[in-house]
Amino acid sequence: MRLDRLLGHLGGLSRQAVRQALVARRVRVDGRLETEADCPISRFQRVELDDRPIQSGLPARYFMLHKPAGCVSATHHPHHRTVIDLLDEPDTHELHLAGRLDLTTTGLVLITNDGLWSRRATLPGSRLPKVYLVGTEDPIDPACVEAFARGIHFAYEDHTTLPAELDILSPREARLSLHEGRYHQVKRMFGHFRNKVVRLHRERIGPILLDPALAPGDYRPLSAEEITAF
Ligand code: URA
Repeated sequence: MRLDRLLGHLGGLSRQAVRQALVARRVRVDGRLETEADCPISRFQRVELDDRPIQSGLPARYFMLHKPAGCVSATHHPHHRTVIDLLDEPDTHELHLAGRLDLTTTGLVLITNDGLWSRRATLPGSRLPKVYLVGTEDPIDPACVEAFARGIHFAYEDHTTLPAELDILSPREARLSLHEGRYHQVKRMFGHFRNKVVRLHRERIGPILLDPALAPGDYRPLSAEEITAF
């Protein structure tokens, strides 16, 4: 919400009183003087008029979790355990996932109550690399490297995948970096070469690496550097 509207709604000030308060430099956002009426304010920010708190600011929460296989990337599910069920935290209903993994996929999942932050992590425009370790049923055709770099056409959405980097590590194992997140994207890319993905593990989203100290099912809060890395 814009700062002037927030001051009007929560502070009970008239439009004129809001303008005067801003011009008189009586408003602080997170402790810093703010004079711009259209300054965007999130629910995590503290807003004060003189020394009176107008909005106290919700604590923003950020976690990384090592998703085990068989656990759903959702907040609720009628039949399966969800990644949210793995958190021993208060008010888990406020949390959501920044990107999903399939039921059988393991690895890095980011969880937060900060919608702006999770949008930065997942927006197609952000083009953050998502790095996967892939195990396949058949040997990987070396032609995949060039084909994935060019892009694979998904007829259903009439979309050609963004250039992706494939590094073949052994006959049936590779590391794949994607710059978008389409439904079953890795499986469909290998499916194009009639090769079945039998193991899939996400190691990294942009600058955030899955902490090797986390066993499947474990989680930890993100560090300040990880939070600001996006
Ligand atoms: N691509 C897939 O096919 N599955 C995932 O879980 C993630 C990316």
